[in-house]
Amino acid sequence: MLKNKNQSFSVLAMARLSSCIGYFFLFVILRCFRASASSPSHKTAGAALFIFGDSTVDVGNNNYITTTPENRADVKPYGQNGFFEGPTGRFSDGRVIVDYIADYANLPLIPPFLQPSADYTYGANFASAGGGVLPDTNKGLVIDLPTQLKNFEEVEKALTEKLGEAQAKELISEAVYFISIGSNDYLGGYLGNPKMQETYIPEVYVGMVIGNLTNAIQALYEKGARKFAFLSLSPLGCLPVLRALNPKASESDCFEAGSSLALAHNNALRAILTSLQHILKDLKYCNSNFYNWLDDRIKNPSKFGFKDGVNACCGSGPYGGLLTCGGNKKATEFQLCNNADEHVWWDSFHPTERIHEQFAKALWNGPPFSVGPYNLETLFFNVEKLTIADIVDAPDEHHFQ
Ligand SMILES: *[C@@H]1O[C@H](CO)[C@@H](O)[C@H](O)[C@H]1NC(C)=O
Repeated sequence: MLKNKNQSFSVLAMARLSSCIGYFFLFVILRCFRASASSPSHKTAGAALFIFGDSTVDVGNNNYITTTPENRADVKPYGQNGFFEGPTGRFSDGRVIVDYIADYANLPLIPPFLQPSADYTYGANFASAGGGVLPDTNKGLVIDLPTQLKNFEEVEKALTEKLGEAQAKELISEAVYFISIGSNDYLGGYLGNPKMQETYIPEVYVGMVIGNLTNAIQALYEKGARKFAFLSLSPLGCLPVLRALNPKASESDCFEAGSSLALAHNNALRAILTSLQHILKDLKYCNSNFYNWLDDRIKNPSKFGFKDGVNACCGSGPYGGLLTCGGNKKATEFQLCNNADEHVWWDSFHPTERIHEQFAKALWNGPPFSVGPYNLETLFFNVEKLTIADIVDAPDEHHFQ
């Protein structure tokens, strides 16, 4: 009897021990997956990256279209910091946010769609400086969002020819679709366009921009896209160009109308994304509050390692607000600061490389209360399918605002 009892005890103990060992090995295996998926030194390429948008993410498409010098960044000192050999078309002293994201995802730099014989195996960039969601924005001078979507169809065809239909479909459904657009619809398209302002009150205009952006998201979803990332709008009224135009100019004032349009747009986009998540099956996205993030750096530059949150490094006039950087525009005189790294703003419209890098890091693995519902690392490497940690700290949309 006693012997029997002992035996059953030891069987139970063995069972417990083996299940412990099982959990331990499972844990180790999951940790290994996580390490191989997320460590940048380990070169597992993440999902492909397709980019749509404006000058915040244009990496040279406008070099290949007919446009004005204001919509191009193909002269020095653009790209001056040495990462690239010279100007590339990026509106920055060096890289822009999508260059960092490609790097974190272990992808090569994603080429502009229009670059002759570009390789689209890891994605393509369709963005165009000056471009808007609405075709009327800077019409004739830019590649608008509907045209960027048509260009995506070209890439889809090229990939199907190269990889075969099944593999191309898989690439497209696994890829991340990064969208950074809207500023030009409110700047040139509305604030700089008295006729639009007479025709539409701001609320209706924001509704049109968001309605058309929603259509674009749905069109991509119908083509197989499932993972999206959004760069929401910055406090537009604090761009040096708008600060300089502020009718109530004082040292600390931004142009109220610009910032409130950006806020209205961001709020509407957030609401739309929350509802699309329930309508479009398997939709996953990364969004963030870029407005407050940048506003913080504009108001408290020294807290984040900057010296100047107000004045453009390159430009002229009050706050460097005149877009003269490069000297190839109507005015040929411009000033250039000594150290762009000390500035939030590179030129009168665009932030410095340092801002791009800091925000790329925030989107990559920022906490759920600042980025969400998914961060970019999760989207590129599907880490949530592989780790206990991701199940435990599952992104919760309620934490995110
Ligand atoms: C898209 O924009 C156009 C103006 O370009 C507007 O007439 C139309 O209503 C918008 N669509 C949606 C769905 O909001």
